[in-house]
Amino acid sequence: MSEHGASENGAIEGRVLVDPYLDWLDQEGIPVVEDFCIDLNAVATKPWQRLGADGAAVHMLGRGDFISMFILDLPPGAKTGQQRHVYEEVFYVLSGHGTCVVEDTTGRSHSFEWGPKSLFALPLNAPYRLFNGSGRERARLVSTNNACMMLKALRNQRFIFDNPFAFGEREAKAGYFAGEGSVVPNHGGRTAWETNFIPDLASFKLNSWNARGAGSANMVFIMAEGTMHAHMSEMGVGTYKKAHRHGPDFHVCIVTGRGYSLFWQEGEELKRYDWHEGCVFAPTNMIWHQHFNTGGEPVRYLATAYGSSRYPFSDEKRRIKLGVDVSVKKGGAQIEYTDQDPRVHRMFLDELKKNGVKCRMGEFLDERMLLGERV
Ligand SMILES: [Fe+2]
Repeated sequence: MSEHGASENGAIEGRVLVDPYLDWLDQEGIPVVEDFCIDLNAVATKPWQRLGADGAAVHMLGRGDFISMFILDLPPGAKTGQQRHVYEEVFYVLSGHGTCVVEDTTGRSHSFEWGPKSLFALPLNAPYRLFNGSGRERARLVSTNNACMMLKALRNQRFIFDNPFAFGEREAKAGYFAGEGSVVPNHGGRTAWETNFIPDLASFKLNSWNARGAGSANMVFIMAEGTMHAHMSEMGVGTYKKAHRHGPDFHVCIVTGRGYSLFWQEGEELKRYDWHEGCVFAPTNMIWHQHFNTGGEPVRYLATAYGSSRYPFSDEKRRIKLGVDVSVKKGGAQIEYTDQDPRVHRMFLDELKKNGVKCRMGEFLDERMLLGERV
């Protein structure tokens, strides 16, 4: 080898285009699925030695560079080995019942019981185990996490998975693992809910947010003093949201109901993806997207992303949080109902008809405007 790194035959030694996260996944030996819209309940899992249960990695095509998802699948009566890692994770329970036991920085254990549609986040690097509480049912959880970002930035698995450092400033407040929380200020004069554990997203009370859509409701969650973001939105029966766009990495997971979303790049054709409970998609960078409830029950969806309301992380996230419900005509990132393509409303009416559901958009505005008629 010469002083310039060339081998004796003249070739330059060394590796290029290395992705330490993908290399690590390869070593872990779990399935990796990648698509634009994925049914998380249908993803095949394999034994994951590190976890002590079954798992898979889920890579959404619009996920950006900072986060991805893991499926954790616990057979009846199974428990994971103790886990701890220097990356953040927000867990959502797709099915099953169980317990999480987590240690605080003084070594004291806290436990809480999760069930279908629970959401929880643990303090960074806190040791924890997950137990499936049923002897008959499997339990399936999905985690949105920044393992990819941390592995790519630090390139040292021992630092990430075998690190005793205690992040005391992220310790959970009393009651936060018991489903209690605090109403805290959010941007735009709105409020957020700070906690570590929400037992059931389907019954959690939301705040109305009509500026984002007819009868729409929402809640932002601040969890585990983390940079990972989570929020939940609801669309009532017979309604849809306004179109909007933003940077990549919002992972939208359907909690209740069914419907579809439209996606389009500026000036290009609409693409439609149908979804139901347990499906996830991540709108790609700056793609316009709009969500529609076509079923007989309210749609609730959980959105996870990197960059929370408290710690937006990127300048882009900070800006979108300030202009998320402002019309594109006023420099924002939203298309008002009166400015949308009339085909959008017609498609919605056709779908409702097929499902025998009544359109309720007329309760919020003059429906003729949605059909492109002058009023
Ligand atoms: Fe969005």
